Amino acid sequence: MEEEKIITTKEKPEDKTLDLTLRPRALKEFVGQEKIKKNLQIFMKAAQQRKEAIEHTLVYGPPGIGKTTLAHIIANEMGVNIRVTSGPAIERAGDLGAILTNLGDGDILFIDEIHRLPRIVEETLYPAMEEFSLDIVVGKGPAARTLRLDLPQFTIIGTTTRASLLSAPLRDRFGITYRLDEYTDKHMEEILKRSAKILGIDVLPGALEEIAQRSRRIPRIANRILKRVRDFAQVESKDKIDKEIAKDALGRLEIDPLGLDVVDRRILETVIEKFNGGPVGINTIAAATSEEKETIEEIYEPFLLQMGFIARTARGRVITEQAYKHLGIDLPSDYQNKLI
Ligand SMILES: Nc1ncnc2c1ncn2[C@@H]1O[C@H](COP(=O)(O)OP(=O)(O)OP(=O)(O)O)[C@@H](O)[C@H]1O
Ligand SMILES: [Mg+2]
Repeated sequence: MEEEKIITTKEKPEDKTLDLTLRPRALKEFVGQEKIKKNLQIFMKAAQQRKEAIEHTLVYGPPGIGKTTLAHIIANEMGVNIRVTSGPAIERAGDLGAILTNLGDGDILFIDEIHRLPRIVEETLYPAMEEFSLDIVVGKGPAARTLRLDLPQFTIIGTTTRASLLSAPLRDRFGITYRLDEYTDKHMEEILKRSAKILGIDVLPGALEEIAQRSRRIPRIANRILKRVRDFAQVESKDKIDKEIAKDALGRLEIDPLGLDVVDRRILETVIEKFNGGPVGINTIAAATSEEKETIEEIYEPFLLQMGFIARTARGRVITEQAYKHLGIDLPSDYQNKLI
């Protein structure tokens, strides 16, 4: 089952190496996101001229869209050290203290999944982000005293897939916030072309186009598919990947022409079969499909909404006419009432 889930939530172990091999190191290798790149270039240059650390930066967007990549690129371009941690890894205020006091001037502390930072740690972070100082409590009971420690001028780069879960005070402390947008088909082709070159695979333009269109506009998914397509081509002793091979491989991976995979289709079909197309709540969909609610919310639903296959109504999710058409299923007779 896991094997066929090419479109999954987070990084899989195989992605770790793939991500590392294919991860752009410089801003000019980072495909698309033109506005953000331009903006960043100016911020970085200005900070360098003032010999200051760049402002705390928050980057958010769906899994696999390039958040971690961008954080590392900023460190590379600024020529500073990057210390990597994540929200759930910092359990106590003391852990944060240890990390912060070990940073050097200009260093970047990259906090992945920053929405999962424990509240107590978050509150310690506020003065650290604002005034580069840290209040620590020494001693216990009546003898306890608060000491203020000066910290180096550092930059926090926080990334999250769930910006809405970030508390307002934390969000406000970031000087710069970027939302990474889904890539265009052209950008996806460019990303694939770059990856194919690094992996030493000969992929013809038609095949690039085919894979790009079925990758949900997410680079990690595109790279993952490219790798699988290469496997198919290799087993069949094809040294060039053309459109036909790509199509055939994608078909075997059960990724349809619009990029829907088995789980997407199962979600749509389940709501159609068991709930007459909705409206139905997300919890019910999760239970009926045996998928985690969070996975549906983070991965599947955004894409299905973007494709116009699911509509959100006050009473719950409804499967749209486009989805019925795509799946080749007849619309229910009361379809119009559902959309209200
Ligand atoms: N703009 C881009 N240009 C080229 N390749 C990219 C781009 N964005 C992402 N990639 C590729 O996609 C892979 C996944 O990106 P990355 O690990 O940065 O995603 P992420 O947003 O941090 O995901 P997660 O939420 O799972 O942490 C990278 O290794 C890189 O190869
Ligand atoms: Mg990441």
